[in-house]
Amino acid sequence: MIKIIYSKTAEEAGIKAAGVIAEVVKNKPDAVLGLATGSSPLGMYAELVRMNKAGEISFKDVKSVNLDEYVGLTKDHDQSYSYFMHHNLFDHIDIKEENTNLPNGVAEDPKAECKRYDAVIESMGGDDVQVLGIGNNGHIGFNEPSDVFSYGTGLVDLTDSTIDANSRFFATRDLVPTQALSMGVGQIMAAKKILLIALGRGKAEILEKSLFGDVTPKVPASILRFFKGEVVVCADDEALSVIKEK
Ligand code: GLP
Repeated sequence: MIKIIYSKTAEEAGIKAAGVIAEVVKNKPDAVLGLATGSSPLGMYAELVRMNKAGEISFKDVKSVNLDEYVGLTKDHDQSYSYFMHHNLFDHIDIKEENTNLPNGVAEDPKAECKRYDAVIESMGGDDVQVLGIGNNGHIGFNEPSDVFSYGTGLVDLTDSTIDANSRFFATRDLVPTQALSMGVGQIMAAKKILLIALGRGKAEILEKSLFGDVTPKVPASILRFFKGEVVVCADDEALSVIKEK
């Protein structure tokens, strides 16, 4: 079932998304959170930090598994997803460092690292909630448009459109990594609940296509239509503009 939660602004969407996570954690203090990076979850993370500092929620028994990491960026590189998570969430809340997990983008053997990450995900017994952003091309995690849906963690080649989109965070386009390690679509679908955050006019077409178009690996997010549980979509007015027109 897909539930769309409308917000007028991105800020409001972030607060509502944080409310979804807070409910999961309040019901299950040792919940497993599948976490995402990108600009979309930033407002949600800021609100979760506020709630934690205000004593409204605790992450002391929470575990996290992130979706993905760039290949070639060390943890302390300011564009690595590890850095992003620490900077925007982990360093400001009471989660234990040893309970947080991301793929290692500088592992000597990326294939072995994918296997290690599969084992980490398996050992968690499934995310209680999986947070997702959506790429301009419909990617979830770094699962790019393809002929097939992937199951497990994989070493993926980023498409030109993703490299273009993410180049805004790097000094030059050449510095954007061309590969990533990403949790697979099958692992995302094994979560108990999905929270998809889509903000801004740039996501309006792909959001409509994902939620109302054909289910196809050419639009990875479209698989969410087959999700067994609840998919909560927290989106702002701009991201919902195409859906509203139909
Ligand atoms: C990256 C991440 C995705 C994210 C996407 C959209 O490519 N790997 O997980 O959803 O960007 O990013 P943004 O939220 O900044 O639009």
